[in-house]
Amino acid sequence: MDTRKRIFSGIQPSGNTHIGNLLGAIRHWAARQTENDNLFCVVDLHAITVYQDPAELKKHTREMAGLLLAAGISPQHSILFVQSHVSAHAELAWILNCVIPMGWMSRMTQYKEKSKNRENVSVGLFDYPALMAADILLYQTHQVPVGEDQKQHVELARDTAQRFNNLFGETFTIPEPVIAGNGARIMGLDDPTKKMSKSSPRAEGVILLLDPPDAIRTKIRRAKTDSLSGIVFDEGRPGLYNLLVIYELVTGLGRSEIEDRFTGKGYGVFKNELAEAVVEYLRPLQTRYAEFTADPARLDSILAEGAAKARPLAEQTLKLVKERVGLG
Ligand code: AMP
Ligand code: TRP
Repeated sequence: MDTRKRIFSGIQPSGNTHIGNLLGAIRHWAARQTENDNLFCVVDLHAITVYQDPAELKKHTREMAGLLLAAGISPQHSILFVQSHVSAHAELAWILNCVIPMGWMSRMTQYKEKSKNRENVSVGLFDYPALMAADILLYQTHQVPVGEDQKQHVELARDTAQRFNNLFGETFTIPEPVIAGNGARIMGLDDPTKKMSKSSPRAEGVILLLDPPDAIRTKIRRAKTDSLSGIVFDEGRPGLYNLLVIYELVTGLGRSEIEDRFTGKGYGVFKNELAEAVVEYLRPLQTRYAEFTADPARLDSILAEGAAKARPLAEQTLKLVKERVGLG
């Protein structure tokens, strides 16, 4: 029996890719590649739901693809492509718009948060989950590995697939979100009550994948903690807990081993060790990233090949959808 699953996930090319993206999402995509059929997509159409400078958007799209390759996504095992290169995404999104009830969209918490205190919010920002549902459903996806914050959107894609199938007959595979237990929600270093985010107003709370070693050391040294003593995993001490989770994930050590290691030691020693561990964890990624960016023609050809492989898969589903709906 074929137990291979179709995996799809996406990431926005909005710059500022951070260690939360890597620990909560990208590293899981890379880890399970050989067991499954994977598509990973740089979602530029999602990025333009808020204004992007055109030249920057182009640059960030290539940068994001380079980072995914540097983080271990292999074009041999996964289809890596740019969303706008496959026009079926936008086309299916329109059709799904006509199937998704307003009430479902209005419940999306990320929209509520993102639109707060903002003027001139685009219709696209509100409609963003419909495009995300199109991304997922076009490829008859079984599993969508994402960080905690995207769970609600994947559930909307699942509900949309079910509603479409009920209205028009079996068409879409029903997808499910896959949320990594540990690391699915890395918090800001400056404010451990808020998730680390590409759009954080303050840069010191966010460890960027391309931060030079000294920037990483400074950010970790200044990370907000508390005045209690003892380096222990205690969710009641959110600043320390977040740093310990990062330490655990980048070193691969067990929790009791980590606590033993820092018994009788203070924040100074722990933060120094954490900083060095993060620097070493990111070093190979940064080296590979430099190699990919040194050869933009190779990067572009990987993306062109990815789109060429994704397109027929997407077209097949779109054709079926159009038949079911009575278009054409
Ligand atoms: P985004 O930065 O919104 O494009 O997210 C790309 C991926 O990273 C998604 O799967 C997110 O759920 C995940 N992600 C974003 N921020 C974090 C975070 N602070 N901790 C863990 N995962 C995250
Ligand atoms: N909305 C996701 C985010 O901001 C990115 C995304 C777009 C995505 N399409 C997707 C993730 C499809 C998973 C599947 O993180």
